[in-house]
Amino acid sequence: MRRWCLWVVLLQLVRTSSAQFPRPCANRDGLRTKECCPAWAGDGSPCGALSGRGFCAQVEVSEEPHGPQYPHSGIDDRERWPLAFFNRTCRCVGNYGGFGCGECRFGYRGAACGEYRESVRRNVLSLSAAEQRRFTSYLNLAKNTVSRDYVIATATRAEMGADGENPMFSDINTYDLFVWMHYYVSRDAFLGGPGNVWRDIDFAHESAAFLPWHRLYLLHWEHEIRKLTGDPDFSIPYWDWRDAQTCQVCTDALMGGRSPLDPNLLSPASVFSSWKVSAATDPLGSEVTPPSTQLLRFTV
Ligand SMILES: *[C@@H]1O[C@H](CO)[C@@H](O)[C@H](O)[C@H]1NC(C)=O
Repeated sequence: MRRWCLWVVLLQLVRTSSAQFPRPCANRDGLRTKECCPAWAGDGSPCGALSGRGFCAQVEVSEEPHGPQYPHSGIDDRERWPLAFFNRTCRCVGNYGGFGCGECRFGYRGAACGEYRESVRRNVLSLSAAEQRRFTSYLNLAKNTVSRDYVIATATRAEMGADGENPMFSDINTYDLFVWMHYYVSRDAFLGGPGNVWRDIDFAHESAAFLPWHRLYLLHWEHEIRKLTGDPDFSIPYWDWRDAQTCQVCTDALMGGRSPLDPNLLSPASVFSSWKVSAATDPLGSEVTPPSTQLLRFTV
């Protein structure tokens, strides 16, 4: 059995973003210009430049060669991310953050993002019943709410046309957005043609990026849940599974108990029993791994 880790601990702040497709840039114009510098609503200027929040700048990525696990170059959109899609994005200054510098970077809040608030990730088993209910209801709200700010790509960059004349993006709910991001970074590389994939690559788990990628991922996920619920104090709890003999979080108050009728199903009393696996597909049509397992199973 694979071990369940989950919701690691709070960590460093990484300033780059793994937010793939900001809605304002996921269109023909964004693809054609390769620029993703949306206007900040507060003053209408790209990246809130007029208000000193940030500026539009050329994306810089590492020029280091790929590791030996990936003997290809120029075939996968994820190489030198995000250059296949965008080569100019907002660079926020001070504590501003978000793809258009309209938000605060992780850990900060307030109108000028000057207030730093430490976020404590708590043991999920020590949350009160009300806190556990709040946690599962937030997840359920995320599962049922289309992301306002992000969309996902349903085709490769090449399939969208040289000038972006065929943009292929899709709405996704806030929960599945993160399932998709995890899938997108981990999936096989497409070498062209049906079934022709390079399996020996996983951009999130097979290198030094493993920990920072997942830390940033969780911070981003937490941030989107906070935006969605309007609860700036939400923090993702963790499950310390080290000495666990059983799946302590597999209860109806948490991630769902087992159905008494069918051991392959969640108990009907769990809010997650009504969740459906998204039919979001990758460009070759294989299905995204079910969200309920994806998010929980960060194996170490
Ligand atoms: C960025 O992309 C645009 C559109 O393809 C291109 O014209 C421009 O030269 C690129 N800039 C850099 C620095 O590569």
